[in-house]
Amino acid sequence: MRYASVTDRLADLGGAKWAVHARARAMKAAGDEIIELTIGEPDVPTPDQFMQAAARSMQSGRTGYSNGRGEPGVVAALAARYTARRGRVIGPDQIMCLPGTQTTLYAILRTLVEAGDEVLLGDPMYATYEGLIAQTGARTVPIPLRPEHGFRMQAADVVARITPRTRVLFLNTPHNPTGAVLRAADIRALGDVAKAHDLWIVSDEVYEDLVFPGVTFTSPLDFADLADRTVAASSISKSHAAPGFRSGWCVGPAEFCARLLPLSETMLFGSQPFIADMTELAVSEPSPVAAGMADRFSRRADLIARQLAGVNGLYVHRPEAGMFALVDVRATGLSGEVFALGLLDCQKVAVMPGESFGAGLGGWLRLSLTQPDDRITEATTRIAAHAAGLLGNAA
Ligand SMILES: Cc1ncc(COP(=O)(O)O)c(C=O)c1O
Repeated sequence: MRYASVTDRLADLGGAKWAVHARARAMKAAGDEIIELTIGEPDVPTPDQFMQAAARSMQSGRTGYSNGRGEPGVVAALAARYTARRGRVIGPDQIMCLPGTQTTLYAILRTLVEAGDEVLLGDPMYATYEGLIAQTGARTVPIPLRPEHGFRMQAADVVARITPRTRVLFLNTPHNPTGAVLRAADIRALGDVAKAHDLWIVSDEVYEDLVFPGVTFTSPLDFADLADRTVAASSISKSHAAPGFRSGWCVGPAEFCARLLPLSETMLFGSQPFIADMTELAVSEPSPVAAGMADRFSRRADLIARQLAGVNGLYVHRPEAGMFALVDVRATGLSGEVFALGLLDCQKVAVMPGESFGAGLGGWLRLSLTQPDDRITEATTRIAAHAAGLLGNAA
C-alpha cells in the first residue's frame, strides 16, 4: 500500500536515538539494577492542589467540548502572566493553548513553513526537533553551538547559513541538552539578524522556570521590536511537574494566532476544559515546585562536575538551567554511543549518547539530574571507573 512521504521523512528520526535507554529498560525488566540517567522527568509528583483542581473541575461538569484557542480563563491567565513577565501588554488574542510544547511546536512550524523552506536550528538540539521540522517538508539547517561559547547560538554562525529559503530561526532557551540560557545580548544580536532577513523567531521556553540560582532568563518576547516575528512555546510539563497533563501554549502576534486557529481546530477540535481549569490555577501563581527542582538540579550538576574534575580527560559542561549535565568523553577516543553502551554493559549506568542530540554533540554524554544525590554520586564514580578502564589506567 502507498503511504504519504511524511512517514518516510519521520521514519529515521524516532527510535534509534533512544537505543541505549531502550536497552537499559530491557535490562531492568530482566532483573538488572540500573542507574538510569537517560530521560529527564520532574523528580517530584504533580502537586496535589493541581490534581485536586482538575478533579474538582471534572466533577463540576467541565467535561464538554472546548474551542480551538483555549478556555477563556486560562487564556486570560496566560495573557496576564506574560504581560507581567515580559514587561509589555500581551492580550488574549496573542495566546493559543495546545496539548504540550511538543504539539504546540508542531502546529507553529506547520503554520510557518513548508517544502522548500529552511529552518535554522542549533546543533546540538532536543531530540524531536528534526522531526518537527521534517513533518512540514522544510529542511533543517544546523547552526553549530560551541562549548567555547557556552553552547549559546552566535549571530555570526546564523548569518553564514542564511539563504533566500530561510524562514525561521528556531531557538531553545533554556536549552536541552546543553542547559545554556541565552543572554539578552545574544537575543539582541540574533533578533537583529532575524529582522535584517525577515525571519520568524520560534522560541521553545519550556525550561523557563528551571533556571539555576543566579541565572537570568530572557525571551525574545522581551524585545518590543521583535514582537511581530516571535512565537514562544511552553507548558506546565516541567515547571509544575505535570507532563502527563499535556497542557501547553504559544504566545505570538495576534495575526499568527488567527492563522493557527483553524489548524488547531482541525487537529484537536479543542482541548479539555478540566485541564484548562487546572492550568489556569497553575500559571496564576509562582510554581510551588520549580525553584526546588532548579536548586536540586543545580547542586547535582555541581556534584558531577566536582567528582569528574580532572578524571581521565573527562570534562563536565556546567548547565545554567534544566535537567541535564553534559560530559565530554572524547579523550577516550570513543563516540558517545559506544561509551554509553559500554558503560551500560560494564557499569550498569544508563546515559544518553550526545549523538542522539545532533552531530554537534558527538563524543559527549547527557546525564539526567533527576535522580537522588547518592545515585548521581554512584553513577559518576562508575563513569570515572569506566573511562579509566578504557584508558588503561584503572586505579
Ligand atoms: C526542549 C524541550 N521542548 C519540549 C519538550 C516537550 O515538552 P511538553 O511536555 O510540554 O510537550 C521537552 C521535553 O523534554 C523538551 O526538553
